[in-house]
This record gives sequence, C-alpha cells and structure tokens, in this order.
Amino acid sequence: MCGIIAITTSMKKPVSKMITTGLKRLEYRGYDSVGISLIHDGKIHTLKDKGQIDLVEKKLDLRSLKGTTGIGHTRWATHGPPNKENAHPHADCTGNITVVHNGIIENYLDLKQYLLKKGHKFSSETDTEVIAHLVEEELKQSDTSMKVIHAFKRVITKIEGTYAITLLHTAEPETIFLAKKDSPLVIGVQDDIKFAASDIPAFLEYTKKVIALNNGEIATITPKTVYIEKNGFKIQPKTFTVTWTVESAQKSGYPHFMLKEIHEQPISLRNTMTINSKKIEQASQMILNAKKIVFLACGTSYYAGLSGFHQFQRILKNKPVYSVIASEYQLYSHLFDKGTLIIAVSQSGETLDVMKAVSYARKQGSDLISIANVIDSSIPRLSQLSLYTKAGPEIGVAATKTHTAQVLLLARIILQLEFETGIIDVNKFDDYKKQLSEETPRVVRTIINQNEFKAKRLASIIADKQHSYFLARGKSMPVALEGALKLKEISYIHAEAFPAGESKHGPIAIVEKDFPVIMIAPNDWTANKILGNAEEMRARGAYIISITERDHPIIKRSDYSFIIPKAFSSLIEPITYVVPLQMIAYYTSVYKGLDPDKPKNLAKTVTVE
Ligand code: M6R
Repeated sequence: MCGIIAITTSMKKPVSKMITTGLKRLEYRGYDSVGISLIHDGKIHTLKDKGQIDLVEKKLDLRSLKGTTGIGHTRWATHGPPNKENAHPHADCTGNITVVHNGIIENYLDLKQYLLKKGHKFSSETDTEVIAHLVEEELKQSDTSMKVIHAFKRVITKIEGTYAITLLHTAEPETIFLAKKDSPLVIGVQDDIKFAASDIPAFLEYTKKVIALNNGEIATITPKTVYIEKNGFKIQPKTFTVTWTVESAQKSGYPHFMLKEIHEQPISLRNTMTINSKKIEQASQMILNAKKIVFLACGTSYYAGLSGFHQFQRILKNKPVYSVIASEYQLYSHLFDKGTLIIAVSQSGETLDVMKAVSYARKQGSDLISIANVIDSSIPRLSQLSLYTKAGPEIGVAATKTHTAQVLLLARIILQLEFETGIIDVNKFDDYKKQLSEETPRVVRTIINQNEFKAKRLASIIADKQHSYFLARGKSMPVALEGALKLKEISYIHAEAFPAGESKHGPIAIVEKDFPVIMIAPNDWTANKILGNAEEMRARGAYIISITERDHPIIKRSDYSFIIPKAFSSLIEPITYVVPLQMIAYYTSVYKGLDPDKPKNLAKTVTVE
C-alpha cells in the first residue's frame, strides 16, 4: 500500500504545501519514504527521501518547491528496500517525465530487460520506474507529433498487475495523466483546481466533490478539465459529494481503524500472496535442512505461529518442531543451537521479547527466518531470510489484517513443504496456490458481508458479561486463543480459551445460566466430540455461540451461530474462522462505548520486556 496525490491549479499559489498536507492524510498507507515532484519553469523539480513525512518535510523543506502542477507519494516498500533511490517519484532518462504509483507491476522485470536493451538507465530497484522509461521510449519511437496521452495509453496496455498511476511530462505542464487498475484512485474537483489521490482525505479540506475512477480507466486532469476514457471511449464523469469530516475520513469513512482493517483483509491477503516464489522456496529449503524448528513470537503473532506449528508437525514427521512464547525463551534455551531454525513471527518486527529471544538464538548459532509486516524493521534485519506480509500499515492496536496475512504466508510455506516432501503433486500444488491467492480473499469478503450484522447483534447480548470461554479442539485451538485475546483486549470481558475436552477437568465449575461459550467447530473429525462438549455446557445453562459450517450438528444445539463456508483447504481455516471473532470483539467494544483502536494499557509495538 502506498499513498499518492496529484494537484494542478490555475491559481498562482504553488501546490507543494497542499501535496505535503495531503501526504500526511495518506500516511496510514505507508511511511517508508516520501517524495514530491513539481513542474516549474518548464522543468521537473523533485525532492524525496527515506523516512516518514514529518521528518522528510523538515529535512528537505518540501513546501519550498515552486510550481502549480505536482505529484506526491508516501511509500509502503514492496520492490526494493526503503531508501532514497527507491522513493517515488521516479524519472525517465531525460528528466522530462516523473511518475508515482501504488500497486505492483508484475511484468516489470521483462519490461526492464527490454528497456535496458534499448539503452535506458535505471536509478532504482522499483517496479514503478519502468513506467517513466516506457513513456519515454514510446515518444522516442514515434513521430514528433505524438501526444503524451497516446504514449501513456500505449504503456498502460503493456503493464500487467495492479496500479494507480499519476504521471507528469514537461511538454504539457498543466496536465496530470492518470490510470487505475485494482488500486484506488479518486479525483477531486473544484473550479480552478483538480486533485487525484489514493483516498479522499488527501484533498478533503479543499473539495468534497469527488469522481471515483473505475478499473481500466485512463484520465487526464488540468486545472479546468477532467477527461476520462475506457477502451478508447470517452466516459461521462459521475461526481458525488462526500459528507465526511477531515478527521473521520482518515479512516475512509469507517468509525475506527480496526473496522477498516477488518474490511481490508481481502486486499491484504491478496497482496500477501504476491510474495516472490523464490523466497518461499528458499524458506522451504531452510526448513527441510534444519535439524529442528522453533516458532518464536508473542500475542496474536504467537497464535499465527501456533497454526503453522501444528501443520509443520503433520508434514515434518521426523523433525522436532516447537512453538515458544518469546518472553519464555530462557526456559527453552537448550533448543537454540546450531542446526536449529527459528521462525520469528512479528507484525511490527520490533517486539523486544522476540528481539531478545532471536538475538540469543543467533548467538547460539541458530538460523533465522522472520515473518514481519514492517519492512526493514529490527527482527528482519537479524534474519538470514526476511519474509513480509503485505497487509499495509495497521493502526488499530488489536492486530487483525496482519494476523490473517501471517497465517496465509505460513500456509503458502506449508503448501511448498507439502510439494517438496511429495505429499502433493505439481498439479495439486499449482491448484492450491491459485486458490490461496484467489479464493481466500473472496471467502473472507463473503464471511465479512454475511456475518457483520450478526456480530453486531451478538455484541448487545454479551456486552454486560464478566467472563467468557472460547473452546476448540485440535488445530482450531489457535483460533480460540486469538478470539479470546481479541475480546479481552478491546472489550475488557475476561475471555479464556482452552481445548474443549479440558472443560470437565475444572473450567466448567464456574459456568452458570447465560455464561457465553464460543465454540470453534469446523465440520471435521472433531464434530461429534465438540458437540458433546457443547451439550455439557448447555446442561449448566451456558449460552452457546458456535462458529461452524452448514450441516454441523452443533447448529441445532447453539443459541447463536455464525456459518463459515467450507474451506477448500484446512490451511485457511485459521483465517476464515477468526474473522467473525474479530467482528464480535470489535462490536462488543463499540457497544460498551469503548475505543477499540486504543485499548487501555496496550501499545501497538511492545518495546519493553
Ligand atoms: O508486533 P508483534 O506482532 O510482534 O506484536 C506481538 C503482540 O504484541 C501483539 O500481537 C499483541 O498481542 C496485539 N495487541 C494483539 O492484538
């Protein structure tokens, strides 16, 4: 995820200040680097650097750039580390073109190869830079009468992947060229000024009149005009007026970041699956070569690791696999030696408990793979192999989209291991891989749509409770643990998760009338057993809430049910089953009048032991 903004005006004021303010509103989309380009006196002037907007703004005095047409970008690094060279905007060889982009150009390596052969010189490792050089190349190859828009349109037919693009060329100093496919791009309209941005908050203080570009549309904006076309045909722009306030719009209209992030999961899952296959193959080789494997993590990330741990045990039959809470690593210090491979899971990549544990393990000679969401953070920097979830910035303290992205990335590794160890053949491997990327986001979208209202209604039933239980069996235990953590951290209802078979060994003692018991019940070998556990709870008056599949007998024995579509693979069950639990926690917190984004006593990144 990156944030882009473009402004062109016929008013005499330079737009650098407005671009800088707009980028601050888009910072939730990424903050690895920042850059702006403006056209002034027939030339492009660019300022950019690594770091967050506040730092870069002060360091480079972004607001000092002159010019009434410009573009800006705040980056969430995907291709190439977060440094000055890879910061957008990117230029062509002549310096007449500058471009910013959000998305991923999947065929950029082929295009770069083609451009290198034509003599183009590249200044970054990004996929984006090819766009500027391609436009340059098109113009070079054509007769001199070719307009920039024609070259731009030809380039758009050559790139594959996802994109929101804004591009400037000195030949048309008041025009901004736009293209959109699968990444957001909206146009803001006012009499003498036009905007384009990833999200409305970027220009909301200047206009509430908006045109949303659709996939496949190419557009140009000048201070007085908006022109849109698709497949060569002109489109009549449809303008709508938003009623958001600047403050609320930063959450794109959602009342809280947490709800926005729950809804972003289909996108973050799809993006996470764009990880380079070579990295997954490398991870799988490291796993197969290791003598033993230890998952290390805390909190929600620990539960993601726990899902991976169960599957690793299933596949790597003769290899010891452990899952350790990072703050407890001293108890397991005997596990960390040469031949051990640590898999550290951490959204922030900065959690001190994990840092301490992996630093110790590295000193003992263990190898390290990290799974993080924040690029180039501390834990990835200690690793031989860093794998990144591409969930985008997560602002709500309660992890949601980063958790499901971690589970998916682990599922992708597990699939690779199943293939490498001969459990599945190449056809099944390709088929499952496709389903992981395409089917998982679709199913998650359906689950959100079908269950959000139910979660809201359930919140009003359980909000006044003091305690709750989350029960599961087998591989569903990490889901129960994560559901309980979500509920307690943002609604402050005591929530305890344990294997359903354990209830009769103690916990059932406190169950009384209307005690909420949430049962994670996929329709597999555990079905009859968990049904029995539900009956035991019902007999004591418990209020049974089941997260289950159509046709599971537990539905008839439940007071409240959430129905989950049967997963194409058990690898994604920890994702599909956790989504309703995230929504239950969120709506319970809201029902109680709490702020789910900022739970008391907690911080997003825990850098204390
Ligand atoms: O950044 P990390 O994934 O290492 O953070 C680990 C935990 O602090 C984190 O998951 C915490 O449990 C969250 N509050 C969960 O919502």
